[in-house]
Amino acid sequence: MFDLNTLVRPNILTLEPYRCARDDFKVGILLDANENTHGPALSEISETEKFLELNRYPDPHQHELKQQIINFRNSKPNQYSEQPLEIENLCLGVGSDESIDMLLRCCCKPGEDKLLICPPTYGMYNICATINDVEIVRIPLTVPDFQIDSNAILNKITEDPNIKLLYLTSPGNPTAKLINVESIIDLLKRSSSKWNGLIVVDEAYIDFTLPNGSYSQSMSTLVNQFPNLVVLQTLSKSFGLAGIRLGITYTNKKLSKLLNSMKYPYNISSLTSNVALKATTKEGISIMQDYVKKIIEQREIVLNKILDLKYVGKNLGGKDANFILVEILDKFGKPSNEIASKLYNTLAVDNSVVVRFRGNELNCFGGLRISIGTEEENKTLLYKFERVLNELNA
Ligand SMILES: Cc1ncc(COP(=O)(O)O)c(C=O)c1O
Repeated sequence: MFDLNTLVRPNILTLEPYRCARDDFKVGILLDANENTHGPALSEISETEKFLELNRYPDPHQHELKQQIINFRNSKPNQYSEQPLEIENLCLGVGSDESIDMLLRCCCKPGEDKLLICPPTYGMYNICATINDVEIVRIPLTVPDFQIDSNAILNKITEDPNIKLLYLTSPGNPTAKLINVESIIDLLKRSSSKWNGLIVVDEAYIDFTLPNGSYSQSMSTLVNQFPNLVVLQTLSKSFGLAGIRLGITYTNKKLSKLLNSMKYPYNISSLTSNVALKATTKEGISIMQDYVKKIIEQREIVLNKILDLKYVGKNLGGKDANFILVEILDKFGKPSNEIASKLYNTLAVDNSVVVRFRGNELNCFGGLRISIGTEEENKTLLYKFERVLNELNA
């Protein structure tokens, strides 16, 4: 049943990548791309900026960066992985937000096709679907464990052939919960014989999940086995590079080729790829892993201290991301959106500490989402959090 040739919109299926003379000729007096060959209009120029030749268009293919990324992911595959990633499995974008949008444009006809999401989930899916005139269908995550309801999803996608994509967030935002890998694999297998659609697993927070022994929980190394699987990752979180905007889409080679044809040829700037190349070397990855280790240690400390507070209820979510989602109580010990949103406001306005109120998300009543900062930041957060929460409930 799953067939990329009928899933992808016909206008995309025949798309050829944009070609430039630079694809064939890279050296000599380059007068092919209407660039300014005098150089950048900068009064001062650093050695790096000079080296990057910023007056030139960037490389549309980024093979070296892709190779470093797959070396990293292949070095610790998923336990069910049978085939390593190759650079042809990757498409790079301006953050994973670009991939979220591109997959919609690739598979969904505006005004006709639909996207299935499992709330509570990341807000951009809704925004991108609305912009593309793609209707959203919702099957909530189960409560209280925030996992997928596979049977309900299967029923929905088989009864509505206009659903072309399923977006899952694992670990979830705002749930901080990894979705069980086996249940996604089961869904990939069971759905492919009944449904012509893609399961997209957004792994923005995957590096904050504790590994499964010597294996990674990431599903990125499974895309060559499951043609209906797409995995999204980003350098915005564990790599600490939200400012450079670099997202990665992993998928089967055929779909990847189409996505690479769809993307704007120069979407990854020379400045971005220069930094991303450094971050994905062995040294960069080891710095990332040190930060992740510290964040995981702090996550435990912050969560335990917060859960000890008088007016904090349970940990609504899991411990698989660089944030936590906790339940705020009123003076009667009941979960309260009123107190949670006042706490959010007072912390931001009077105490210069900004967290995120999430109490209006499905099954997150009373919820406040807190990113785990440095030890110093967390100490200040905990001190002010307790004081303001006690005052609000006095
Ligand atoms: C689940 C999820 N996916 C994607 C993103 C966006 O990532 P990027 O910065 O790569 O666009 C976020 C950002 O908060 C997120 O929470």
